[in-house]
Amino acid sequence: MLKFINETVEYLQGKGFENPEIGIILGTGLGQLINEIDILVEASYNHIPYFPTATVEFHKGKLIYGKLAEKKVVVMQGRFHLYEGYTLQDVTYPVRIMEKLGIKTLLVSNAAGAINLNFKKGELMLIEDHINLQGSSPLAFNGVEKLGERFTDMSAPYNKNINSTFKTIAKTHNIKLHKGVYASVVGPQLETRAEYRMLKIIGADAVGMSTVPEVIVANHLKLKVAAVSVLTDECDPDNLKPVVISEIIAMAAKAEPNMITLFKELIETL
Ligand code: HPA
Repeated sequence: MLKFINETVEYLQGKGFENPEIGIILGTGLGQLINEIDILVEASYNHIPYFPTATVEFHKGKLIYGKLAEKKVVVMQGRFHLYEGYTLQDVTYPVRIMEKLGIKTLLVSNAAGAINLNFKKGELMLIEDHINLQGSSPLAFNGVEKLGERFTDMSAPYNKNINSTFKTIAKTHNIKLHKGVYASVVGPQLETRAEYRMLKIIGADAVGMSTVPEVIVANHLKLKVAAVSVLTDECDPDNLKPVVISEIIAMAAKAEPNMITLFKELIETL
């Protein structure tokens, strides 16, 4: 994998992706952050050597390099999911590339269902810990030890200082920011009532289909990590309404301005 990583990095450096400090994965609910970035270079995923082959949906996927709050950032517009048929190594390959380009911090956003019923749709949740329910690990491959410690420590996968700054920013702007545990499932089907009950029992506050693989690899590479979920639906097993994906996307869009405020102001402090 190291040879592929080096070739991908050389290609991007040749295009001008020079020494970014921060990597950002724009999930559902943070796409508009792109409007705040002074874009210097972009590369379509399907032109970047060894990037996962873009599915039809991800033909618009791009890696963007530019400036946000005077910081050099590299931004993934569109991420890869296990449910699209990629492997966990594919899903996390861009994290390895951003690290080799120079980032020290990875910021992630996603859309998630609220398992904790004190949390309401449209609100945000700072991820303080996670549960990996995707059935495997992005570190489970031959040669992983050449890229970092195989038995990666996960005692504190999310950075305490960044999280405390996020909380301060949220307070200042009167943004409701819950804290909790994010469980990642494969999807793409939504959960059954029995599955929502199980998720609550095992300690999840929110559930989604992304983020955990990228966070595991970021910890493998010793990056500082923070992640925020926009809660798009309330997963009450005793009163479960059918989930409509367009409603999930609409709810994510509603919360987007708050998410953008949090990320922009955080980056100013980094
Ligand atoms: N389950 C899984 N993923 C999700 C959900 C959910 O309820 N809502 C948004 N992403």
